[in-house]
Amino acid sequence: MAAAASSSSPPAVITCRAAVAWGPGQALVMEDVEVAPPGPLEIRVKVVSTSICRSDVTQWQSTAQPDLFPRIFGHEASGVVESVGEGVTEFQVGDHALTVFIGECMSCKHCVSGKSNMCQTLGLERKGVMHSDQTTRFSIGGKPVYHYCAVSSFSEYAVVHSGCAVKVSPTMPMDRICLLSCGASAGLGAAWNVADVSKGSSVVIFGLGTVGLSVAQGAKLRGASKIIGVDTNPDKQEKGKAFGVTDFINPAELNEPVQQVVKWLTDGGADYSFECVGDTGVVSTALQSCSDGWGLTVTLGVPKAKPEVSAHYGLLLSGRTLKGSLFGGWRPKSDIPLLVEKYANKEIQVDGLVTHDMPFSDINKALELMLQNSCGGVIPFRRRPSFLPELGFRAKGKSGNGGGGVMIWLTPV
Ligand SMILES: NC(=O)c1ccc[n+]([C@@H]2O[C@H](COP(=O)([O-])OP(=O)(O)OC[C@H]3O[C@@H](n4cnc5c(N)ncnc54)[C@H](O)[C@@H]3O)[C@@H](O)[C@H]2O)c1
Ligand SMILES: [Zn+2]
Ligand SMILES: [Zn+2]
Repeated sequence: MAAAASSSSPPAVITCRAAVAWGPGQALVMEDVEVAPPGPLEIRVKVVSTSICRSDVTQWQSTAQPDLFPRIFGHEASGVVESVGEGVTEFQVGDHALTVFIGECMSCKHCVSGKSNMCQTLGLERKGVMHSDQTTRFSIGGKPVYHYCAVSSFSEYAVVHSGCAVKVSPTMPMDRICLLSCGASAGLGAAWNVADVSKGSSVVIFGLGTVGLSVAQGAKLRGASKIIGVDTNPDKQEKGKAFGVTDFINPAELNEPVQQVVKWLTDGGADYSFECVGDTGVVSTALQSCSDGWGLTVTLGVPKAKPEVSAHYGLLLSGRTLKGSLFGGWRPKSDIPLLVEKYANKEIQVDGLVTHDMPFSDINKALELMLQNSCGGVIPFRRRPSFLPELGFRAKGKSGNGGGGVMIWLTPV
């Protein structure tokens, strides 16, 4: 249980529970961690909900940065501002916020360009520290515990830069809109901002997890007439339909290359293809699946290995384009409030992406589900409302295939 400072005193160190990774792929351990007060322009957030993005899993398993352990993963989250650092004017204690893995400083070359979300000051943080001073805000017994994407939401409290958080209305359900802090927004933005999918067009999406399903939703809302979903998990056929997928291909059931089937279904190749798996081999397949002349491939996946993409040069000479995108091109502060508003107005669906609701203490079970690929990649951890009794959760049942596996709802009784 966290020990926090009173609202009148300056923020002090908080000790709280966090799920700490001690080494690549090792089960997370619930530890008491110290969380430093927010530094200048930073805020400390009491995390209410966090989901596991596939990127958390990929990075947790990766052996590429062994020096960045112990480490706290998690970046797709919502919470309440607990304290603010010097110079913060945008947030007040008690504000509800989404954390974001790429921030917006509003003043660098990219932020003022109006055509990029690759902020030069608060961009994707890869060294396990905070942007401002290159140190950590977490420690155990005085020894640093590294961050992930300068968010680290697998903790009851996290310090983030105020430029890496977006204020949201307290009426919004925290355990659903947290998906807008990464996967759902990344997919919608890839369809709308990056590809700019047009009415009547054909689209093929490789991988129907949170990201791919959100691309499908974005394409459907743009009026695409054919939306082909490709996934090795057969359960994604049904799930995909709810997000606009019109045709489903399981590559494991084909005798011919998947790109040939796509070409057959689209009279020579799709107008747009999207890679939402995290496999550079699939990037090449996606490029081969789109049309000569104008076909556009947008790649979103974060590869586990082999970051090089190989493709026959002729694919480019024949007029195809390959583009990448982080966070769907959204500038978080400028754009995410609009997405939250669309959610509030029921113009976009997010709730259907959630496959499991689980308590924070079950985080290793959630990771196990991700590794078995038996969920949609979306598992929010809901903080128990304080008015509920300690043991106020029960498994309500098991039903359907939802995002592809067992659906367990942990509901207050
Ligand atoms: N660019 C960004 O801003 C951004 C944001 C979030 C996630 N990501 C990355 O996007 C990718 C997808 O994320 P997610 O959360 O939707 O993941 P996910 O694990 O929920 O979904 C991936 C889907 O791909 C399917 N799949 C696996 N191998 C396949 C193959 N060879 N062919 C077809 N389907 C296959 C799986 O069955 C699963 O349904 C990951 O690499 C993740 O790290 C990128
Ligand atoms: Zn993510
Ligand atoms: Zn910037």
